[in-house]
Amino acid sequence: MMQNERMSILFVCLGNICRSPLAEGVFRDIVEAHGAQERFFVDSAGTGNWHQGKPPDRRSVDVAGRHGIDLTGLRARQVTHQDFERFDLLLGMDSDNVATLAALAPPGRRGRLAQFHEFSTGVPRDVPDPYYGNEDGFEAVYRMIRASAGSGKTFQLTNRFIRLLLSGQAPE
Ligand code: 4NP
Repeated sequence: MMQNERMSILFVCLGNICRSPLAEGVFRDIVEAHGAQERFFVDSAGTGNWHQGKPPDRRSVDVAGRHGIDLTGLRARQVTHQDFERFDLLLGMDSDNVATLAALAPPGRRGRLAQFHEFSTGVPRDVPDPYYGNEDGFEAVYRMIRASAGSGKTFQLTNRFIRLLLSGQAPE
């Protein structure tokens, strides 16, 4: 990847209505706080297609809104083979998502795939599916995503991407 290119990141969960829209929103917020929006293209998708075309779950919209992030414009879609060509990095929110993506990945493209929490912090951990739980689960997911991305201005996730960008190294 050339230094001036944009880096593209796809956050992936099961339904693309709870976790990955939150990750997309939080990451976009971080990128904007760094004034780095020209350098990143951020999107999200689900491994399943049940919610195709639907806005995020109201509980994700609400928790994001409480933290100043607007998810209302997002619409769910299913991940495709082309996503492995279009995105530099695909981050699965849990290990099932990563396994599904690994099975879908064209040969030679698995290096673009990682678990969100492991990639962000070095510690492999699932971001738990909050769909069948209560509002607290959504707040917990939000906090986990926000904490994975760091705190204050030293957002680990963004810094890691920015380091990769500056060094000209994209994941495989
Ligand atoms: P997500 O949560 O993967 O974080 O979007 C889910 C949303 C919907 C379903 C499962 C998980 N569902 O079974 O419909």
